[in-house]
Amino acid sequence: MAIERTLAILKPDCVRKQKIGEVLRRIQEAGFEIQAMKMLTMSKAEAEGFYAVHEDKPFFDDLTDFMSSGPCVPVVLEKENAIADFRDLIGATDPDEAAEGTIRSDFAGSIQENIVHGSDSPANGQKETAYFFAEHEIVANQ
Ligand code: CMP
Repeated sequence: MAIERTLAILKPDCVRKQKIGEVLRRIQEAGFEIQAMKMLTMSKAEAEGFYAVHEDKPFFDDLTDFMSSGPCVPVVLEKENAIADFRDLIGATDPDEAAEGTIRSDFAGSIQENIVHGSDSPANGQKETAYFFAEHEIVANQ
């Protein structure tokens, strides 16, 4: 299996619930290597840019309001098979459908406020990483 990169975002609900440490602990225990991390508050325009692929969805305005409502923590993660393994670790988008023991099942309040984002393909992992991090901010490149 190939080494892949995924861009995770610990969302504003994760930060507000004081779960940054717990979620990062689970991510590291699952074998992901943290390659870059920062904390920031996205502007509405930055959230709209990040989620541009969803701009036609009915939830786009609420989602981008939520994602710009407070600090979030983008994290670049590397691991063999990172995309699929991270999605297994966090569980389904809707916490009601997320498998028991997954991060979203344990901490998410709703389909929108679902604690954490993960890239859905290696190509998007690279693209989303570049949205938040310059090449020199990723430790593997230093
Ligand atoms: P995420 O993995 O960040 O990718 C897109 C986000 O849109 C998703 O997590 C949810 O937070 C949100 N989302 C997806 N589907 C819905 C929906 N039906 N209603 C509200 N928000 C949604």
